[in-house]
Amino acid sequence: MKYGFFDDIRREYVIDTPRTPLPWINYLGSEGFFTLLSNTGGGYSFYRDARLRRLTRYRYNNCPLDQEGFHLYIKDGEMVWNPGWQPTQTELDFYQCRHGLGYTVITGKKSGISVVQELFVPEKDNCLLMRVTIENTGNEGKNIMLFPYVEFCLWDAMEDGSNFQRNYSTGEVEVSGSAIYHKTEYRERRNHYAVFWANREPEGFDTSRERFIGVYGSPARPEAVFGDGCTGSIAHGWQPIAAQEFHIHLTPGKTDQLIFGLGYIENAEDEKWESPGIVNKRPALQMMERYRNSESIDRELAALKAYWNALLSHYTLRCADEKLSRMVNIWNQYQCMVTFNMSRSASYFESGMGRGMGFRDSCQDILGFVHMIPGRARERILDIAATQFPDGSAYHQYQPLTKKGNSDIGSGFNDDPLWLIAAVDAYLRETGDLKILDEAVPFDNNEQNKATLMEHLRRSFRYTASHLGPHRLPLIGRADWNDCLNLNCFSAHPGESFQTSGPSEGAVAESVFIGGMFVLYGGRYADICRSRGLSEEAEKTEECIREVREAVLRDGWDGEWFRRAYDAFGQVVGGKACSEGQIFIEPQGMCVMAGIGVESGEAAKALRSVEERLDTKYGIVLLQPAYTQYRLELGEITSYPPGYKENAGIFCHNNPWIVCAESILGHGERAYQVYRRTAPAYLEDISDIHRTEPYVYSQMIAGKDAPTFGEAKNSWLTGTAAWTFVSISQAILGIKPTLNGLKVSPCIPKNMIEYTVTRKYRGAVYLVTVQNPEGKETGVKEILVNGEAFSDGNILPVFPEGSIVNVTVTM
Ligand code: GLC
Ligand code: GLC
Repeated sequence: MKYGFFDDIRREYVIDTPRTPLPWINYLGSEGFFTLLSNTGGGYSFYRDARLRRLTRYRYNNCPLDQEGFHLYIKDGEMVWNPGWQPTQTELDFYQCRHGLGYTVITGKKSGISVVQELFVPEKDNCLLMRVTIENTGNEGKNIMLFPYVEFCLWDAMEDGSNFQRNYSTGEVEVSGSAIYHKTEYRERRNHYAVFWANREPEGFDTSRERFIGVYGSPARPEAVFGDGCTGSIAHGWQPIAAQEFHIHLTPGKTDQLIFGLGYIENAEDEKWESPGIVNKRPALQMMERYRNSESIDRELAALKAYWNALLSHYTLRCADEKLSRMVNIWNQYQCMVTFNMSRSASYFESGMGRGMGFRDSCQDILGFVHMIPGRARERILDIAATQFPDGSAYHQYQPLTKKGNSDIGSGFNDDPLWLIAAVDAYLRETGDLKILDEAVPFDNNEQNKATLMEHLRRSFRYTASHLGPHRLPLIGRADWNDCLNLNCFSAHPGESFQTSGPSEGAVAESVFIGGMFVLYGGRYADICRSRGLSEEAEKTEECIREVREAVLRDGWDGEWFRRAYDAFGQVVGGKACSEGQIFIEPQGMCVMAGIGVESGEAAKALRSVEERLDTKYGIVLLQPAYTQYRLELGEITSYPPGYKENAGIFCHNNPWIVCAESILGHGERAYQVYRRTAPAYLEDISDIHRTEPYVYSQMIAGKDAPTFGEAKNSWLTGTAAWTFVSISQAILGIKPTLNGLKVSPCIPKNMIEYTVTRKYRGAVYLVTVQNPEGKETGVKEILVNGEAFSDGNILPVFPEGSIVNVTVTM
């Protein structure tokens, strides 16, 4: 069952009922100011950091769901309704939500009144804008009232949701003209306030929730809206809000328009006040002035469109499969931008209060984002590297606002250092900017202790090389990519963090997965060394890699697949002899991507085992058989009921690893099959089962052991976005950036007979048409570059900036 449709021309997903299986959201904003917005107008805003600079409140597990947001109440006689249906849930005559790239348009119609709410964050400003167009489509004159409403958050979302003895006394606002200023804590240590404004004077306002909603009222029935209108309340403590009242008279066919904004303003310390106790409003007034009229909104919306056109033009596909095109050209890349911006911080499943930016997460996000804005990827790489410790290990997470590592989680996740190499390698392949390697970057954010980025990479590599266990496989530490395989944790008390309890390191527990990573990204590090003329370091590196590759094939191989790990007692995890958890997906993907066992046959066997044992119709599950009991020596993975999350859920993130691995063996049919099973556009028809947005990936789909097989959770913020983009754009369609140029090596299904990729790469535009007249899966027979035979392998050289390069590839 579907709840809408893709409008590919406008690059929108159009939702035609407010009763989606879950709120289906969009992300507005792409650098400083962000808003999450659902299809019914729910959501929240923050500036840079969803924990430390939260502008509006959101109650994640509220009932009914998704009540807080950017709602408009329309009062038409005695009837009250919202164009987005929530929170009154008054039945509408017409409802539609269009989620586009960086904007959302919600339309509601009721009894001859049509209201269109257009919401977006302008490209270069710290505010959310909302243009509201009201039309009388009936044949009688109408007097309606309109009330916008937002509830402020007292900045630190964690404190806001827990420290009520303080919060209920600190709230402060100011009202001036058509604006409401939220200035809690501005009198003391903050230099920022929020402002909600309209581009016209309201008839009334409220800033106290008790007065507008009522102590025992609800957003579904605000007392002011259902009763005698706004009361002019000024909040002192309790819950500050911004609500306004407008009276609108419309003759038949007539339209009126209002513009609302929610802005974030910072003032310099010596410019905080206009007069004692009165905030300096100058920058807010300037902000309001910028968006006074409808033309300014049109201009900003056009700029936003142009911004996205430019971003998406770096990789575009033309092919016969409309679902594939919309994933590649629009939604997968869009999600890559969102994951790059948010890491795993703020969504409808990630509260924004826990983790900030993840070290491994953000490194992987770069793989899917770097081609869009390499300059921002560069900056991010340097920020991440600055949270690395001198010994090469790293903080697992850091706060986006401070860019400092979070000590409560600390370090000890032994895959982290290698992901830094992956990110830098992707950046170098995209840009060729070797100068980044000479940047001086702190360790542990300490400006007194800096080294070049190249030296950071060396320490990343050395960290793993010097932390090998009894089988000469890498020690796992607190966990590797799988945060829930906690082999040194032994937690027996509820509430303990599986990731931070127990010693950060044991001398026995080893990870075959990190072994694969070490071979793969160690190899990339060696290539980088060579490109800098460091051949001795490259050889030393390759020597270490050889040793680990042998260890993986010796003690990491189980006979039909790669083992997962050795636990703290030296017992195999992920082997045939185990009673549960016999085979895991991660080492099969990673070891084959690293080329381990490709020539000697283990790789093909491992992938066959994946297909036989882990495949389901909705994707590949993480492991089998699912763990049915909690096992102290394995940790969180066994805490989940069978079929959920890391315990045999379809963890979408590592499905594309199998796609990449299959492509290494030239299995185009299988690679494409795996790709398609989890790609959201192909799941649109089963939205009632899948439940999350059909335009983005979710972290997890319940596996075959779960009672809710096929149901997805945790949409949007997942490394799946970056990795599936890598898997489809590079592994399947075969357009791969390398250190020396653009490689073309498709690995496709036999019935894909022709496609064209337009790839902007290092300033040139490559128009690559792949023709497959004989229905092959892989192998390039001939390449023509600008009409002439290209006989120099399949790596196209870097062309001068501005060149247009016509490439025809025959398979
Ligand atoms: C979550 C984490 C990611 C981890 C994965 C598997 O998605 O963000 O870092 O690799 O779970 O546990
Ligand atoms: C839990 C989740 C895992 C996530 C981790 C983040 O362990 O199961 O997916 O990566 O939390 O800390």
